[in-house]
Amino acid sequence: MNIVIIGCGRMGQGIAITFALAGYNLKLIDIKKRSKNDFNKLLIKINSGLSKNLEILNNIKLINKNKIKRILNNIEVIKYEGNNNLISSADIIFECVPEKLKIKKAVFKLLSENANKKTIISSTTSTILSSELSKYNKHPERFLNAHWLNPPYLMPLIEISPCNETSKSNIKKAYNLFIEIGKVPIISKPSPGYIVPRIQSLAMNEAARILEEGTASAEDIDKSVIYGFGLRFAILGLLEFIDWGGIDTLDNASNYMTKAMKSKRFTTPNIVKKHIKDNNLGLSTQSGFMNWKNIDIDKYQEEKLKNFVKITKLLNIQPKIKI
Ligand SMILES: NC(=O)c1ccc[n+]([C@@H]2O[C@H](COP(=O)([O-])OP(=O)(O)OC[C@H]3O[C@@H](n4cnc5c(N)ncnc54)[C@H](O)[C@@H]3O)[C@@H](O)[C@H]2O)c1
Repeated sequence: MNIVIIGCGRMGQGIAITFALAGYNLKLIDIKKRSKNDFNKLLIKINSGLSKNLEILNNIKLINKNKIKRILNNIEVIKYEGNNNLISSADIIFECVPEKLKIKKAVFKLLSENANKKTIISSTTSTILSSELSKYNKHPERFLNAHWLNPPYLMPLIEISPCNETSKSNIKKAYNLFIEIGKVPIISKPSPGYIVPRIQSLAMNEAARILEEGTASAEDIDKSVIYGFGLRFAILGLLEFIDWGGIDTLDNASNYMTKAMKSKRFTTPNIVKKHIKDNNLGLSTQSGFMNWKNIDIDKYQEEKLKNFVKITKLLNIQPKIKI
């Protein structure tokens, strides 16, 4: 598989390392027009960036030092000018240029005009909708967005966001490639903030508000996330947790918060009201956001708690047991 990454900054280098770790040879291409001298300076910077990140992965015991050279050999850093055949021979291209529409527009024009009939072009944008970017691609059926989280070689999640025209087979190809390199892909329609940035932005703004109103110190707000909120959601999904605690419980909390905070941002969504009306309350009624009908709930809960204990042991924060 010919993998080409366009843009050699943080994400370009990070995605390059991800594929190189998984044993792929790839081309990391600098597409910005610059002099030979400037490119040579950039090359030194990129090579030192790649080496530094791999040194860190060795220090934190993800890879062995003796593998670093082999991993680096999998990454070929090349200047675009004079090498446009690299685009036409690519099976998949990851666009990692700055988050500026003008730059992305020009890059997609160039890529989609030079790619072959099968090349999938994947943006890395974290904010611009794939349905907006698809307009600048000559073949939107081969275009999608894959939102990687930073650092890409450590974070498993990839939010794939196809545009309306992306073909099912190309979504599947990208999905399978991500599975193959050990990632956890999910599919989201083009919607502002996709999933993670959308949930994250609400949580981050709420943390800042709690600090602003003087409810708790910055350190304690963050401790609450690290030892409570975040820890829980490393094991349970948000919707799964609502089902666990009861959908009506969320509604009660939302009603109280809306009144107490005098803010609509805590309002119960219609989907929650409908579930309550239909008596789909979660685990207690064996139906909610998830279908619990054929699940041994005791076993399921035990499994979740087992994973929770594993994490607390790993982080050395398990409960003190003195008897
Ligand atoms: N940094 C993150 O945490 C993160 C996370 C997820 C997604 N993203 C997305 O990844 C993409 C790249 O972000 P990044 O953080 O790697 O940026 P970056 O600034 O680190 O790298 C951008 C690269 O593009 C090159 N470049 C600059 N101007 C250019 C131009 N006019 N034409 C072509 N190339 C040009 C730069 O030389 C550099 O190699 C963005 O769309 C961003 O939203 C970033």
